[in-house]
Amino acid sequence: MKNLQITIWNITFDNPIFNASWPACTSLEELETLWESSSSAIMMKSCSLESRDGNPEPRYRDVPLWSINSMWLPNLWYKKYIEFSHILKQKYNKPIIASVVWFTPEDFRIITKAFQETSSVDMIEVNLSCPNVVWKPQIAYDFETADKIISMVESLWDKPLWIKLPPYFDPSHTDSMSEVIKKHPQVKFITCINSVWNTLIIDPEKEEPLIKPKWWFWWLWWDYIKPVALANVRAFYKNLWDKVTIIWVGGISTWIDVFEFLLAWASLVQIWTVFVKEWIDSFSRIKKEFIDYTEQKQKKSYDEIIWKLKEL
Ligand SMILES: Cc1cc2nc3c(=O)[nH]c(=O)nc-3n(C[C@H](O)[C@H](O)[C@H](O)COP(=O)(O)O)c2cc1C
Repeated sequence: MKNLQITIWNITFDNPIFNASWPACTSLEELETLWESSSSAIMMKSCSLESRDGNPEPRYRDVPLWSINSMWLPNLWYKKYIEFSHILKQKYNKPIIASVVWFTPEDFRIITKAFQETSSVDMIEVNLSCPNVVWKPQIAYDFETADKIISMVESLWDKPLWIKLPPYFDPSHTDSMSEVIKKHPQVKFITCINSVWNTLIIDPEKEEPLIKPKWWFWWLWWDYIKPVALANVRAFYKNLWDKVTIIWVGGISTWIDVFEFLLAWASLVQIWTVFVKEWIDSFSRIKKEFIDYTEQKQKKSYDEIIWKLKEL
């Protein structure tokens, strides 16, 4: 399968793999580096109403099977990303996606309105899965608030809506979130999953936590979270297969991860930790491996892969 191009809701992706929102898509220079890579889109760092420095260092560590952080959303403020969107749109022809986060619903109203009225982005990913207010549930764990926020965004944004969800650990919760999404016809993309939040790792030698905690509980990523991501993709596919496109993020390092997730109901995938480890070569490596494997399996199109997981 040499042609990996995929068009969803009128947006064309050169291949199914692009970057997740994370620190190295914060500056214009970093975003331009993504253009030079095989990433099929340029996803920007989650932006807030005001610029943020985030937590003090050390706030990130990765080892072979996981990465952990307590970054606390460092970003330039949202107006910078609106400015970048014009520069990127003029120079490059990849889809540009903004990631939006907020600390009060009012922040979010202002940011969405500004992106709608003054930006050149193709899409916004609404990050409902960051612990915005410490010791309060993430928005996506509070179904009533999530419903209200999505309604507000729908009233301000005239393109398909994209929301990023946290992992759910109880099937009743994926069902409740699915019911919320069904009420909002504009929601056409969901990203599963953001971090597994509320984790702690100790360095036994030093008898101290591995990174600097602010509230002691951090976000965990990569291989450790892949089975959780798969199950969440599966649950949302079961409930929403005729309504949304599912983007999988969490634990991708090789073509086999991409293949599994396309089989298991995702249509696009985002990568992060592997990008940090290999930099932009990660996109071209995974893409090449995926092409080689589909050729070897004589798969001619996505129709022969996506959603084709067999039942036992
Ligand atoms: C240091 C770090 C910062 C991140 N910042 C954001 C962010 O600002 N917005 C967001 O939606 N996700 C953020 N994420 C989550 C990633 O987008 C992604 O969901 C996660 O890393 C899972 O992918 P992976 O297993 O390939 O790393 C961040 C992840 C890490 C490790």
